[in-house]
Amino acid sequence: MPEVRIEQTGMRSRMVGGLRVEHEGEELVLAGWVHRRRDLGGLLFIDLRDRSGLVQVSFGPEWTDAISWELAHSIGHEDVIRVKGLVVARPDGGSKSQMPTGGVELQVRKFEILSKASTPEIPVYRTPEEELPAEELRLQHRVLDLRRSELQEKLMLRHKLMLAVRVYMDRHGFIEVETPILTKATPEGARDYLVPSRVHKGEFYALPQSPQIYKQVLMVAGFDRYFQIARCFRDEDLRADRQPEFTQIDVEASFVEVDDILGWVEGLMEALAEVSEVDASLPFQRLSWEDAMELYGSDAPDLRYELAIEDWTKATEDLDFGVIRSQVDEGGRVRGFRLAGGGRLSRREIDVIEESARGAGAPGLLWGKRGDEGASGPLGKFMTDEQADRVGLGIGDLVLVCAGKDGLTSPALAAVRQAAIKALELPRVTEHAWLWVTDFPVFEEDEGRVTASHHPFVMPHASDIENIESGPGSVRGTAYDLVYNGTEFGSGSIRIHEPELQRRILRVLGLNEVEIEEKFGFLLKALSAGAPPHGGIALGMDRIVQRFTNSSSLRDTVAFPKTTAARALYEGAPTAPGGSSLEELGLQVNTQNPPERGE
Ligand code: AMO
Repeated sequence: MPEVRIEQTGMRSRMVGGLRVEHEGEELVLAGWVHRRRDLGGLLFIDLRDRSGLVQVSFGPEWTDAISWELAHSIGHEDVIRVKGLVVARPDGGSKSQMPTGGVELQVRKFEILSKASTPEIPVYRTPEEELPAEELRLQHRVLDLRRSELQEKLMLRHKLMLAVRVYMDRHGFIEVETPILTKATPEGARDYLVPSRVHKGEFYALPQSPQIYKQVLMVAGFDRYFQIARCFRDEDLRADRQPEFTQIDVEASFVEVDDILGWVEGLMEALAEVSEVDASLPFQRLSWEDAMELYGSDAPDLRYELAIEDWTKATEDLDFGVIRSQVDEGGRVRGFRLAGGGRLSRREIDVIEESARGAGAPGLLWGKRGDEGASGPLGKFMTDEQADRVGLGIGDLVLVCAGKDGLTSPALAAVRQAAIKALELPRVTEHAWLWVTDFPVFEEDEGRVTASHHPFVMPHASDIENIESGPGSVRGTAYDLVYNGTEFGSGSIRIHEPELQRRILRVLGLNEVEIEEKFGFLLKALSAGAPPHGGIALGMDRIVQRFTNSSSLRDTVAFPKTTAARALYEGAPTAPGGSSLEELGLQVNTQNPPERGE
């Protein structure tokens, strides 16, 4: 539990968490919540809770004044009380207590109930064996859920991390500038949250998906180094690692190269790691996007594990197996994993791994085991001993193989990798795997449709600029992602600072001149005003807190999160607007065709 300062207020002498044997004999006033009460008839024990922890306070006819003793039995769970009494050492020295304050208790002379609590809908006190109530229920009663020390500690760590960000960025010459929340669409690949304008009927602001354009404009304005702990809003399919509103550590700097940004961010991560119990040994490993896809099938591989993809297209050249032959004839490759000792996996366990490949879009997974009598399995049975040797399939081993075009097999192999790691409980080579994935492609091409891999402002590699129109899929960008234990922490790039190059990219993305002007006119105007070369990154604050606190969900790192259906269960949002607000905004809801309910 982080140290708590300035504990004394007009109403209490101190917070409870730091009480120790050396405070014995002190006369104190404490205040807080009734965490747990044990009424033994002749004595009453209460664990009193505040943000700093718990301490036992005891009521008894020998030391509690008569009126207080009489009233003490009416104290209920989660009541807010104030107690005055004497710190005494506990006779057993606290050996039976799990609490850091267990060596002492406060013998209450007098007390008052400051606030009565209604019966809590979810318990705040639980025995170690008791499970947490369902998350939906906890979100509905967030005020009680937030009283749990686990959540309080996570939010306190979040605060410390935000503080460390500000100190570090300031020290490196970055200044925090707030950018608008009511703004214009920013292209980060999600839908916008729109806010209707009352004054300009029929017109809408968009909430920012990121401060991307503003931070670039700030560079043109000469701010040189900007950062912001920025709220972003994205209407997208939510998962455990996404929230519709989230926080970025947003960074931009002028006259920089890729290494400058990576260096600052590594230093920042080192500073943040110091605040938590994470190790960040510098420098972080780097892999090009191409190599990451080749070796792990993913642009965010979890390098706590060594398992890497091998290419067996050549090694299986003479394998007489129709599935493989037809895929290779169509330009595909044969790639997969060799798992030493993997032969011990049962058919069912391999089926689960295969399911992960299907889930990632592959038609199936080929596999082979090798025993004393040779290779077996859907792929193995086609292999001679020599062919098995060529792919390194030894006795007791397993190979898992996908054949086909990389676009299909890479995501499948990434999923197979995770599933195989889990099934075989492969050992970790490190607990903290930091990775930069660099040189992402600028564009994604799907059936002739060209979209931006990151956003349209990424500066292409100088040598690839000539191919922007002729072969957009081959254009590499100066873009990088920071990955920690398989989670994308952040994403950034050097930006385009020449308006004409920016226009070319936007045209390749299918925008006509009118759309370019309408959507990006203000950026292009800024770029024409004398723009310095610049670049930056944005790091997901919530994800950093999630990983650094080992939380299974991003929701545990935010005080008032939304569900995966984008509902705020505690406050009950979104809601249908009441009164005349729709009329004032000049809006009508189409009740014939109501929007789909999220849940
Ligand atoms: P990007 O869209 O990759 O880049 O976002 C940067 C980081 O923000 C976090 N993040 C999220 N966290 C929680 N919930 C979400 N819905 C969510 N979406 C993104 C991730 C991600 O890595 N403007 C660019 C950055 C730049 O180029 O400087 C941007 O926003 O951790």
